[in-house]
Amino acid sequence: MDIYSASVAAYLVAALLFVLALAGLSRHESAKLGNYFGILGMAIALVATVALAIDTDIESVGLVLLLVAVALGAVIGLQLARTVEMTGMPELIALLHSFVGLAAVLVGWNGYLHIEHHPDGVDAVVLEAAGLLGIHSAEVFIGIFIGGVTFTGSIVANLKLSARMKSAPLMLPGKNLINIGCLVLFLALTVWFVVDPQLWLLVVVTILALALGWHLVASIGGGDMPVVVSMLNSYSGWAAAASGFLLNNNLLIIVGALVGSSGAYLSYIMCAAMNRSFISVIAGGFGLEAGPGDAKDYGEHREIQAAGVAELLERASSVVITPGYGMAVAQAQYPVADLTAKLRAKGVDVRFGIHPVAGRLPGHMNVLLAEAKVPYDIVLEMDEINGDFGDTDVVLVIGANDTVNPSAAEDPASPIAGMPVLEVWNAHDVVVFKRSMAAGYAGVQNPLFFRDNSQMLFGDAKDRVEDIVRALG
Ligand code: TAP
Repeated sequence: MDIYSASVAAYLVAALLFVLALAGLSRHESAKLGNYFGILGMAIALVATVALAIDTDIESVGLVLLLVAVALGAVIGLQLARTVEMTGMPELIALLHSFVGLAAVLVGWNGYLHIEHHPDGVDAVVLEAAGLLGIHSAEVFIGIFIGGVTFTGSIVANLKLSARMKSAPLMLPGKNLINIGCLVLFLALTVWFVVDPQLWLLVVVTILALALGWHLVASIGGGDMPVVVSMLNSYSGWAAAASGFLLNNNLLIIVGALVGSSGAYLSYIMCAAMNRSFISVIAGGFGLEAGPGDAKDYGEHREIQAAGVAELLERASSVVITPGYGMAVAQAQYPVADLTAKLRAKGVDVRFGIHPVAGRLPGHMNVLLAEAKVPYDIVLEMDEINGDFGDTDVVLVIGANDTVNPSAAEDPASPIAGMPVLEVWNAHDVVVFKRSMAAGYAGVQNPLFFRDNSQMLFGDAKDRVEDIVRALG
């Protein structure tokens, strides 16, 4: 078998491994194995790509550049993976999407400079003779557009998630018209470019895409960022697929399509979890910061100490823990696991209720709880547990806020109205662990804190849970 055929076969194996990786990642139990499949697939793909490059008589300087880039990328990637905090994962993912977008822009430009810019060159003449030049031009143009939108959109998502940019949406007048106008202009320019592939058109579409990506994500509020990150994930897949067509690389097309469609499906699942349509997310507006102290008077909140919570738990026969972003910040999952084990040893029925967008990335809470070795079978999804709160003695809301906000269910005027939430207020007693009365991610006041059956346990979640574990003896 020659090197070309071997590489094509290797690409097929890698593609199958990526499908297995996605399948593995969809369940707790098989997630680790899924990761291994992905690593193996990527290793095979890299080796096959380098072999293919050598086979196509790559110049030695090009080969050296390729290997240096792979080595450099590997070192930076390993370092980032080792140092990133779980809470910093979404912003890192957003940053990585921006690289895919940038790569797609560069591949598109390279395609143009190689083919359309040299209409008398061998490759351009061959494409022209086969009647494929127009298709190549469309691939260049579309690839650059999707890549450009992904690039700046992902940078804005990174800045918002890392709080280096305000999470409130940018509300330019006629913002939806601006977005739609950009899309219509892009379509018109694509037709123009296919008919007459001029350099200035490429410059215009690059600037247009960069500006649209920036505006699109800047005008979406912080509360919708999870959907945006997954949407950008999808865009980065389509950008990679577009590059695959340009580079004639089947694996890139397959992987791009896998990432593009799984990202789109995840966005759909998250929209459903927030009871929002995809269009309304793109149109933005959600996540507006509630003005200085939401004018409504919710009354007084009650405070409780760790010893009081321990007493409540001693008397309880059923307990549900609903963790949120604060548990991740405090790294409270280990004492939470200790508390769970202790209560279960005393015969208390302890379960976890996980909201689909609790924390800052899909599956955030599940990963933390798995890390602390909480048994999978007591970790339930929101839909599985929502009907049980009425029969629950004590709910411990550990660092969650928006995901347990009753106004989402009860106040049609609330910015998060319609988002399905964990109905913890139906339990007999609710204890909310947080450091202050501050709002959650969406910047909305939470009436749960002022309910008669709610009590606040202030302080760092890890310290407070450890206090309770000690008080339980
Ligand atoms: P949030 O609404 O973000 O609230 C977290 C709460 O944790 C805050 O009110 C904060 O109050 C408290 N907290 C922070 N550090 C703490 C610590 N060390 N100890 C104790 N408490 C601490 O949390 P949530 O209920 O998990 O909701 C998630 C929100 O993030 C949703 O709005 C969701 O749309 C959004 N979001 C989700 C994702 C995904 S995919 N999961 C991605 C991005 C954004 P104090 O400051 O008073 O302590």
